[in-house]
Amino acid sequence: MTYPSVIAHRGMSSLAPENTMAAFVKCIDYGVSSFEFDVDVIADGSVIVIHDNRLDRTTDGKGGYYNLQFKDIRKLDAGNWFSPTYKFERIPELVSVVELLNSTGLEANLEIKPSKAGFELRNALVDGIVASLAKLENPDSILVSSFDMDLLTSLKARAPQYRRACLFEPSIAPIMEQVDEWIKQASKVEAVAIHPCYYGLTEEAIHAMTEAGFQVNVWTVNDLERAAQLGSWGAHSVITDRAQDFPQEARSARPISNR
Ligand code: G3P
Ligand code: MG
Repeated sequence: MTYPSVIAHRGMSSLAPENTMAAFVKCIDYGVSSFEFDVDVIADGSVIVIHDNRLDRTTDGKGGYYNLQFKDIRKLDAGNWFSPTYKFERIPELVSVVELLNSTGLEANLEIKPSKAGFELRNALVDGIVASLAKLENPDSILVSSFDMDLLTSLKARAPQYRRACLFEPSIAPIMEQVDEWIKQASKVEAVAIHPCYYGLTEEAIHAMTEAGFQVNVWTVNDLERAAQLGSWGAHSVITDRAQDFPQEARSARPISNR
C-alpha cells in the first residue's frame, strides 16, 4: 500500500497535549516533518496557539480568552489534562512556533481559527500573524489555512508571500456542487491548497480539485486504509492525529514545502 504524506494534527496530538511545544517537538522523535496547529488572538493582541475558543478542555483555566493578557495565559497549565507527565506545559505564542521552525527545519500548517473576537481584535490577529511570520527564515515552510475566508483575504492583502489553503467541511449537498464552490472560493483567495474534511469525499471530487490546480490535504484521517485510498485518488497529504502509525516515507515527505 502507498500512503499520502502526513501532517501531524495539532502536533503529535495522540502522544502529547495538542497544540503545545511538546506535541510539536515530538515530531522530531518520530521523523515527522510537518505539523498543523491552530491560532487565535487575546486582548493584548498576542497570537496564541489553541484550538477551542474556551480554555476549559485543554487547560486549567475557565471560559473564553478574548479579555485576557498574555501574562494571564502564561499562568495556565496546558498539559496536565492530558497526562501529569506534561504538567507545566504552556499555551505557546505563535512566535515560539516560528522559532521552532527556524531552529529545526520542521514545517507547519498554521490554521487561523474562525475567530469570534470583535472587529478590532480580528484585525490584531492578522497583524500579529504577519509580525510573527516576518521572523520566519523560510516562508515556504508555512502554509496558512482557515475556514474564515475574510481572515485569509486580509492575510493575502497584508502578506501575500505566505501560501494559503481553504478549509471546508462537506455538508449534505451533492459533493460535486460543493467542490465547485470550494474551487471558486480557493481561486478568489489565490490559495494553493484545499483542505476538506474526509467524509463524503470521492475520487471524482479529489480529481476536480487537483485538476483545477490545487493541492488537496484531507483532515482528520486516522485510519491507514482510508488514507491510502485518498492518496490513490490524488490527495497530496492527510492531516492526522496518528502520524506515528504511518511508514517513515510518508512521515518525512515535507508536503508543505515540496509541492
Ligand atoms: O486544519 C485541519 C483541521 O484541524 C480543521 O479542524 O477543528 O481540528 O481545527 P480543527
Ligand atoms: Mg486545526
